Amino acid sequence: MKNASVVLLRFILTPLSLYPLAASPHSPDTMAEQRYCLGSAIAMAPTIANPFPTIHLLKTPTRDSWVGEALADLDIILLDHSHCERKAAGVAMNLMFRYPSSEKLVYVLTDIAQEELSHFAQVNHWLAQRRVPLRQLPAPPYGAGLSRQVRKGEPERMLDSLLVAALIEARSHERLGLLASHCPEAKLAAFYRSLMASEARHYGAYWVLATTYFDRDLVATRLEDLARVESELLAMPYPAPRIHS
Ligand SMILES: [Fe+2]
Ligand SMILES: [Fe+2]
Repeated sequence: MKNASVVLLRFILTPLSLYPLAASPHSPDTMAEQRYCLGSAIAMAPTIANPFPTIHLLKTPTRDSWVGEALADLDIILLDHSHCERKAAGVAMNLMFRYPSSEKLVYVLTDIAQEELSHFAQVNHWLAQRRVPLRQLPAPPYGAGLSRQVRKGEPERMLDSLLVAALIEARSHERLGLLASHCPEAKLAAFYRSLMASEARHYGAYWVLATTYFDRDLVATRLEDLARVESELLAMPYPAPRIHS
């Protein structure tokens, strides 16, 4: 387990070491402090059901039945995944438009937006290989439910947006990890494994951004509220398999 923890942390920390760090009253001033921030956001205790490290951002792990539901219709899961990657790129782009003078945010999200678009292209390639046409898909209440939690006024809107993005990325990381370890198609499982590492970096990056612009205690308190809502949304039954159902 120790090795898996080290691997996960390396995945998360490597890209952050490339980002320019702007000075801020609340930002981690040194790389060592930044690593401490990330370390405190991630637990390292695996469970029997889930061999991956427990993600502290999330209140509850995915229910046992989800993997079976997802594997029963991998084409739909891939199609929904395509929408998720496009939306993730859009979230990063929207934040850059909204906060163009927040330099660290812009640097970090430029990389994330590019990476999400690359994921979008890769998932679409899988869909093409399986002859699944791109099309609209009804979305589960997850994304809209989390968006409703984002407060309208600033600076609360910025804090909530970063934390909602962190939670979605963390859940994506968890779910892609489950698909990676249970998918019966070896190449597709390997693909999920590669994306899972990226999503881990992304949720770490959003969390670090939140602690860059906001007091650490304020971030922790708001994260507690939003994480509870995130788990409640996933407890709502949805009649079709989705990445976030
Ligand atoms: Fe992605
Ligand atoms: Fe992501």
